[in-house]
Amino acid sequence: MGSLTEFEVENWKEVPSLIYELETIQEPVVWENLFPHRPDFPIEVELGSGDGTFLMDYAQSNPDINVVGVERLMGRVTKTDRKSRRRGILNLRMVRLEAAYWTRYMIPPESVSAFHIYFPDPWPKRKHHKRRLISPGFPEILRPAAKLGGKIYLRTDHRDYFQQMEEVMNDAEGFERSVTPDVISEILTDFERDFLAQGIDTCRACYQKTH
Ligand SMILES: C[S@@+](CC[C@H](N)C(=O)[O-])C[C@H]1O[C@@H](n2cnc3c(N)ncnc32)[C@H](O)[C@@H]1O
Repeated sequence: MGSLTEFEVENWKEVPSLIYELETIQEPVVWENLFPHRPDFPIEVELGSGDGTFLMDYAQSNPDINVVGVERLMGRVTKTDRKSRRRGILNLRMVRLEAAYWTRYMIPPESVSAFHIYFPDPWPKRKHHKRRLISPGFPEILRPAAKLGGKIYLRTDHRDYFQQMEEVMNDAEGFERSVTPDVISEILTDFERDFLAQGIDTCRACYQKTH
């Protein structure tokens, strides 16, 4: 953790929680309140971070990034917090909130360098497709939150959902297709490990905000 501040190195055992308790959901967060001792590093957000497998490994490999996991299930939020502190990972915060609401209302404008959205619930039945996170309208929520040049990283095992992701993002104003760097692809999520162990192929895509 070469980029930890002196304060963090001295005090990490004292940090009581990496869970950021929102004081209000009426106005955007102030990133410095989440990372008061390292306010100048880029912010990256994982939506639906599950048990935090990717988030923790990614944070540990990238001490110069502030990573935020957003997850609606409290048990997964507390598990990530507990394991991160045990591992001495301090450039990570967890927020318990619904991902689309968070992205639309709680992120300050043009402040996120990358969104990671991995294995979001596929809602396989046609009548439930409208519940999918990556659906028409979602890029309009992502775009104001992302920095110019910011990346959207996507993964899924579900072919039909992947096709929808590509259609939605290819059609979206202000984004162009990009490439997922190997250093990111190599960090697996919990669900991805399960799928790969079962011999199930996964799909990935990356988009970049152009304007
Ligand atoms: C299929 S799991 C994938 C977890 C993790 N990304 C992985 O790849 O291992 C989807 C996760 O997203 C969370 N989730 C689903 N919909 C959500 C939403 N609208 N807002 C926040 N979290 C959500 C679920 O609770 C679950 O932990």
